[in-house]
Amino acid sequence: RRVVVLISGSGSNLQALIDAQAHDELGGEIVAVISNQADAYGLKRARDAGIDAVVLPHREYDSREAYDGALIKVIERHEPDLIVLAGFMRILTPRFVNRFLGRMLNIHPSLLPAYQGLHTHARALSDGVAEHGCSVHFVTEELDGGPVALQAEVAITPEDTEESLKAKVQAREHLIFPIAVCWYLEGRLRLEGDAATMDGTPL
Ligand code: GRF
Repeated sequence: RRVVVLISGSGSNLQALIDAQAHDELGGEIVAVISNQADAYGLKRARDAGIDAVVLPHREYDSREAYDGALIKVIERHEPDLIVLAGFMRILTPRFVNRFLGRMLNIHPSLLPAYQGLHTHARALSDGVAEHGCSVHFVTEELDGGPVALQAEVAITPEDTEESLKAKVQAREHLIFPIAVCWYLEGRLRLEGDAATMDGTPL
């Protein structure tokens, strides 16, 4: 099973996927990493692991539609079974989403449906909620709104800052993302209609 990973930055989640693959725990092979940012550290992580690392800078395209069209071409060249968004900081066009519907997973730093969008840790802290966390979900046209496949919770303590909370949540991201990817590649996790299912049972 073939996986293409899209990134924009540090790529710590990409690293977790690379490490899982190295331990035969991914259920497939990462065949390419694509970044819209030329200076993304995750590109080095990919190259160090011997994975094809591709830069596709969005600034070289006039429109979102043109960029996503080019991105579709690069992705399809690698014939992936699954496309993993691991900190890919771009809003995707409906054309892109529908092209790969049911074959795209994203990791989001909140307990969805809470805190869609950006600055999730700061918002959770300022609201004074007790629980925060991260979610792996299928990508649909609704930004951060697709069906959730897997979540992990962390407790917010009075000492937490945005940075400490981010670190705690990211540690959980690195645990659950490879698991969800493996479930998908094994054919256990699927998008069926509007629902994520696990072994045929809606989640
Ligand atoms: C993660 O916090 C993820 O939840 C969000 O973007 C961040 C990516 O971090 N979607 P990294 O590039 O994997 O280190």
